[in-house]
Amino acid sequence: MSGEPADLRGPLEAFAADVECNLAEARLFRAPGRINLMGDHTDYNGGLVLPAAIDYETRILCVPSERVKLESLDVEGTVDLSAAGDEGCVEGWGRYIAGILKVLDERGRKPQGLTGVIDSSVPVGRGLSSSAALEVAFATAACALAGFELEPLELAEVCREAEERVAGVQCGIMDQAVAILAEEGTATLLDCATLKTSQIPIPPWLSVIAIDSGVERSLAGSSYNRRRRECEEALSAVQSYLPEIRTLSEIGEDRLDEAITYLDELHAHRLRHVITENARVLELALVLSRGAPEPDAATEEELRSIYAASQASLVDEYEAGHPNTNKLVEIAMEMEGCLGARQTGAGWGGSIVVIARSDAARDVVPSIAERYLNATGKTASALICAPAGGASEITGIMNQPKPT
Ligand code: GLA
Repeated sequence: MSGEPADLRGPLEAFAADVECNLAEARLFRAPGRINLMGDHTDYNGGLVLPAAIDYETRILCVPSERVKLESLDVEGTVDLSAAGDEGCVEGWGRYIAGILKVLDERGRKPQGLTGVIDSSVPVGRGLSSSAALEVAFATAACALAGFELEPLELAEVCREAEERVAGVQCGIMDQAVAILAEEGTATLLDCATLKTSQIPIPPWLSVIAIDSGVERSLAGSSYNRRRRECEEALSAVQSYLPEIRTLSEIGEDRLDEAITYLDELHAHRLRHVITENARVLELALVLSRGAPEPDAATEEELRSIYAASQASLVDEYEAGHPNTNKLVEIAMEMEGCLGARQTGAGWGGSIVVIARSDAARDVVPSIAERYLNATGKTASALICAPAGGASEITGIMNQPKPT
């Protein structure tokens, strides 16, 4: 994880002082945040996504105990629940824990308490899926301690369902799936219709940077659900003429023009975004998979044009933009060494993703931030991200010497 991770053993010993549990049995689990390189608002339309897990993650050190008791080292909120999660109290982020316990209970996990401390380096509210990292880290721990096994994508679905219930956002599977399935050094190409994945290596000449616009995604939940509804409306209108179609993504580029004739203007915009965005995911995956040791001018141009088209589509067709993220993307795209920029995740504020030549990454960041501050008066903060692996247990931690 970026930065020196805190040793959670001291905090766990202090937190678990009143609880009956054996600290020698402590186990450490982690799950990463994510950045989406390409493919937004496609996952819930049976489409393609290409996210990467990032080296900012949520960790939980925990021991089996009678109840579920958790503390975070970073944010306020408490959890004190029965082992099945159905009785007790939660505040703030604890609602996600209660949500996960409830869904796991419905899937047959036997009630098993745990006492633990959590810390996270995933920035909250910036569109880097801090909630998915929390959900997946906790669900991984809760399953492991109860000896309950789920297929990776089933675990992702448990976490997605909990998110939907707790946050009221009818999100797709992308964030939770990548937090589980990601592999170091790669982006995960996920077909959300078949749930098939393949890992696309991110070449060493390419750096991935998340830049936060400093704008809260305040409307994200309601606008997100509205877009989802619009997509469902578009699907049922198309199905009246093409009954064999099961998701918008099945329409494909070859039938896009025909399908649009069955829609009004608004729904045509939404459909056009989904279909063209799926195509851009494949284009990007192909460019990255070529494995060239250095990009030539044509490859650089290709990347810029894929990213420019995605940004335009998100803003004009899907109307998920925000003046500040639009500005940030515009500034980034003008920088020497920048090979693409677009908003990432749900939109309506939050972060943008910038792909840059690795030899230029450190220099572009301060220049972008300075020009953005001059243009908007807002501070942009950047994270240069290394593509990380999905959720895992970190073993051997209890045998290491404690820092003095
Ligand atoms: C949020 C959701 C995802 C996905 C993106 C947009 O991050 O949680 O499921 O729909 O928005 O691509």
